[in-house]
Amino acid sequence: MSFADRRLHMLGIGGAGVSALATVAYAWGAEVSGCDRAASPYSERLERFGIPVAIGHDPGHLEQGMEVVVSSAIGPEEPELLTARDMALPRLHRAQLLAVLTSMVEGVMVLDCRGRVLQVNPALERMFDVTRTEARGHPCSDVFRHPQLDALVSTVLSKRMNEEDEILLHPSGRRLHIEASVIESDRENDACAVLVFHDMTDLRRLEIIRKDFVANVSHELRTPLTSIKGYIEALLDGAKDDPEASTQFLGIILKQSDWLNLILEDLLQLSKIESGQVLFKREPLHIRRVIERTLAMIKPLADKKGHRLASFVDDELPAVLGDEDRLTQVMSNLLDNAVKYTPERGTITVAAHPVSDDAEQPALVTAVELSVTDTGIGIPEQDRPRVFERFYRVDKARSRELGGTGLGLAIVRHIVEGQGGRVWVEANTPTGSRFVVRLPVPQIRQAAD
Ligand SMILES: Nc1ncnc2c1ncn2[C@@H]1O[C@H](COP(=O)(O)OP(=O)(O)O)[C@@H](O)[C@H]1O
Ligand SMILES: [Mg+2]
Repeated sequence: MSFADRRLHMLGIGGAGVSALATVAYAWGAEVSGCDRAASPYSERLERFGIPVAIGHDPGHLEQGMEVVVSSAIGPEEPELLTARDMALPRLHRAQLLAVLTSMVEGVMVLDCRGRVLQVNPALERMFDVTRTEARGHPCSDVFRHPQLDALVSTVLSKRMNEEDEILLHPSGRRLHIEASVIESDRENDACAVLVFHDMTDLRRLEIIRKDFVANVSHELRTPLTSIKGYIEALLDGAKDDPEASTQFLGIILKQSDWLNLILEDLLQLSKIESGQVLFKREPLHIRRVIERTLAMIKPLADKKGHRLASFVDDELPAVLGDEDRLTQVMSNLLDNAVKYTPERGTITVAAHPVSDDAEQPALVTAVELSVTDTGIGIPEQDRPRVFERFYRVDKARSRELGGTGLGLAIVRHIVEGQGGRVWVEANTPTGSRFVVRLPVPQIRQAAD
């Protein structure tokens, strides 16, 4: 694929769209200018097709815009397409075509041979937070003040070679991939280069998340596996002949295999939810029942640590639609953490009450809030938003010691958000944490009197 083809591809325009692009540039040029009518070889040709031509003080602008985008799109090596361009022009509506450039997610900038900005599209204005008026007619280096971009532009203009690069914007942290291509031109004021900017921020972020995830999973699986292998080797090395040692080692192997199994189950569940394989039911929820069920499930564990369990459920809870089994899982993950991360003889409280998200109508119930509060070790403020990430643990060693997979809260967040709700964690005073799940209450429209 040639450079020009690739750029067309990136612009989402196939070979047939080349003529459209030409006309877009025409429209673009016309928009740049005022609306005086003037003649140029190109405008005459357009007029012949019945297209009104609006050209500003500098008639070269129109032609320039058109030629720039056409030649950068199809390249001088494909002259037959230029004919197709002319043929297609009359069929295309100016406003429609202008919409292509203005609605493009890629930023586009046209420079003259001295590196001055001839044109920018709205996407580029947004990327760099500059306006077209500020940019046009000024040296690219003055407008954007980005050394790496300046270097790219001067290479392209001096060597007359296509180039690409990726730049990082400060302070937004956005990553832009730039494809710069030259346009053959002899005149100083003509368009010399077209730069297309793609925002790669989300893609790069996803790449990092994916890499981190693979590294994390491998690490998580390696820990129990290393331990299993170590104890098996010890048994083979002779410990098997010692009944006491072999019973102890086999017990550890069993525990580590259970943990391995737990990690895999959680991972599988998370991936099912993420890939949309889990369909959430939308049935009326019996929140009181969910709370009673989970408290009964967690009670033996809480008793072991001497925790006091309390629950406060508002009598007037409005109907909430959701998946009862999934909500039970949410509550049991939160309660499991509360029990684990609270030193002995703590207090764990579960509550449910109606709330309003509408500041103007505080009496209007828009959601039900469920909370799990403990008097445990708490979570430092900077870690609070991150505990919902996969494998994120404030204290890895402690979590492992307590048999945690680091996936419980990630599952909680997916389930809650999958049902249209929100989950977050706050500090409890004087110590501990408060996890809050807010589920929306469907609003029944009042029939007009
Ligand atoms: N109630 C809590 N009190 C203190 N820390 C908590 C609490 N709940 C969760 N955390 C922190 O958040 C981390 C992530 O929780 P989770 O996803 O359930 O993983 P796991 O419990 O398996 O470690 C825990 O490792 C712990 O550091
Ligand atoms: Mg947990």
